[in-house]
Amino acid sequence: MGMRILGWGTALPEKVVTNRDLEKTLDTSDAWIVERSGIRERRIGDSTAELAIAAGRAALGSAGVEPSSIDLMVLATTTPDQQVPATSAHVHHELGLGGGAFDLNAACSGFVYGLVAANGLLGSGAKRILVIGAETLSRITDWDDRNTAVLFGDGGGALLVEHVQDEGQLLGWDLGLDAEAREILQAKIGGFVEMDGREVFKRAVRVMVDSANRTLEQAKVRAEDVKLLVPHQANIRIIQAACDRLGIERDRTAIVLHRTGNTSSASIPLALIDAIDGGRLEDGDLVLLAGFGAGMTWGSALLRWQGGAGAKPGSSA
Ligand code: ACO
Repeated sequence: MGMRILGWGTALPEKVVTNRDLEKTLDTSDAWIVERSGIRERRIGDSTAELAIAAGRAALGSAGVEPSSIDLMVLATTTPDQQVPATSAHVHHELGLGGGAFDLNAACSGFVYGLVAANGLLGSGAKRILVIGAETLSRITDWDDRNTAVLFGDGGGALLVEHVQDEGQLLGWDLGLDAEAREILQAKIGGFVEMDGREVFKRAVRVMVDSANRTLEQAKVRAEDVKLLVPHQANIRIIQAACDRLGIERDRTAIVLHRTGNTSSASIPLALIDAIDGGRLEDGDLVLLAGFGAGMTWGSALLRWQGGAGAKPGSSA
């Protein structure tokens, strides 16, 4: 038994904040931000629920599926709108979903954690699951701190997945956590993101590569057979270093960070859906998702792309 992807959708706030905009309030420059991170602009605004609702609605629409036929919704987020109830309760209500819903916080690895959890639940009775990653990191960013303010953005992305009797599209996965590193990237309740950027950088490349290799090994797939790497969109240099170590050419990656910044749980679905809607995937292509985040968590998953059953292009924000 396995999982099939039926639909997908994304959401981005309307407001664009460019590096030039940040130059006006911070001791930074467009050149520094582009050279060190690859980011040129980010979107800011809306609530986490609003972005999750828009991305979820687009995913349901692209699959042509009734919201009431959903068994479960998983909302990966590090920026819930309130502490209780979970943000997923509001999203569930607004979308008119059936079944249950819960929030999941595995930082920037959250979407991969959610997809792997969904795959397991589809193997034990669930029929259709909506997996959403949505974030409003702008709310926990100190806009006076140049070390972090230039990196983050808001957004959402969703995949609608369904149970199938055959092997399905998820061929292998690896999830992990090194809690020794939990203080190098954190936001206390009511506080802003604090980060030791150099330390995160160093560990990020290592954990992403090791996790991706474990997933490939599990699926008995060679790196050169991967059509597209969809990495967490934190920093172009982290992605390039990971590609080089994995033996995946840099142009075989999905990249949106230049226009979204780091959107944590939303970053992998935003990049994957950009590649889908851009016509970069054909049936049978192998797609490797690889994320890392605060915790320090990591998660990778190998998918065999099979299009969507009835999914229409143009679901992107
Ligand atoms: N503009 C200009 N100068 C800056 C800025 C800025 N915005 N930020 C830092 N600098 C300065 C520093 O003060 C430092 O100056 P110094 O040499 O006088 O001390 C200099 O630039 C170099 O700083 P580094 O930290 O060494 O720069 P680095 O090349 O490592 O790039 C960056 C910094 C972009 C933060 C990088 O380390 C990085 O991307 N780290 C990983 C961050 C990450 O992935 N975070 C997200 C994890 S996922 C999640 O859970 C949200």
